[in-house]
Amino acid sequence: MATPRHATVLKWAGNKSKIAKQILATLPRGERLIEPFTGSAAVFMQSDYPCYLLSDSNQDLINLYQLLKSRGPAYIKQARRLFVAENNTRERYLALREEFNHCRSDTMRRAALFLYLNRHGFNGLCRYNSKGIYNVPFGQYRTISFPEQAIEFFIHKAHHAEIKRQDFAQTMQDSTVGDVIYCDPPYLPLSATASFTAYDKEDFSLAQQEQLAELARECAARGVPVLLSNHDTPLARELYTGAELFELQVRRNISCKGDGRGKANELLALFTPDSGHYT
Ligand SMILES: C[S@@+](CC[C@H](N)C(=O)[O-])C[C@H]1O[C@@H](n2cnc3c(N)ncnc32)[C@H](O)[C@@H]1O
Repeated sequence: MATPRHATVLKWAGNKSKIAKQILATLPRGERLIEPFTGSAAVFMQSDYPCYLLSDSNQDLINLYQLLKSRGPAYIKQARRLFVAENNTRERYLALREEFNHCRSDTMRRAALFLYLNRHGFNGLCRYNSKGIYNVPFGQYRTISFPEQAIEFFIHKAHHAEIKRQDFAQTMQDSTVGDVIYCDPPYLPLSATASFTAYDKEDFSLAQQEQLAELARECAARGVPVLLSNHDTPLARELYTGAELFELQVRRNISCKGDGRGKANELLALFTPDSGHYT
């Protein structure tokens, strides 16, 4: 069966493939779409802006996307070799994870291993310990296919994309009139005890959530619309005061600290130059 156009190269916590259409219906048009929290780039894959800036703080993610853009066919050749039945065992997974953790200078090999780990590891998690060691357990999937069509489609779209490893604040500060920004930060906790921010070795703090909301207001005030998504919680509504709010019902694939899969509402907050009164 053909891979749907909207499939992403990576499985990713917080992947927006299923709600990308609704997000795009809310996003204003513009000359360039900026995603400061790119993750699996689900919105990029389903949209058609003239050009893009994709950025994220995760070095492995950005290394993979930069290689797809600059050396796509060579990458496919190298990564495809890892997707064989013999490599879908716990022993091989642990050996290849070990190789990944020692592989620092060969960026092509590291990017191929990153995709292998993402597809063979548990639940599409991307998790590192405090020393930056990737430690996701084996996923135990019966069959795994190489996401070739999603890769080909990413390579095709990447001709119109600039790809940078960068903190969200820098990315947003660099925006100019004509840009539109879609921000999908690590989620705010659903409750005081539940939090899920293990995308990178750094956690995403409440201070960063506040800084993000403030930057969204600043960008909007200088003519750059910003759409933010997050869990629909009282704190999110407070943080996004002044924005136009839209509610979406979503089924989560990756839950908070293993407390079951369930429905969590998603909030979209649109800051535009004319939303005005932000104080
Ligand atoms: C919810 S995920 C984005 C999911 C994405 N929209 C998708 O569809 O897959 C959040 C992303 O924010 C990135 N991130 C975390 N802290 C960041 C920071 N300070 N600056 C930029 N990106 C950051 C993580 O690496 C992760 O990829």
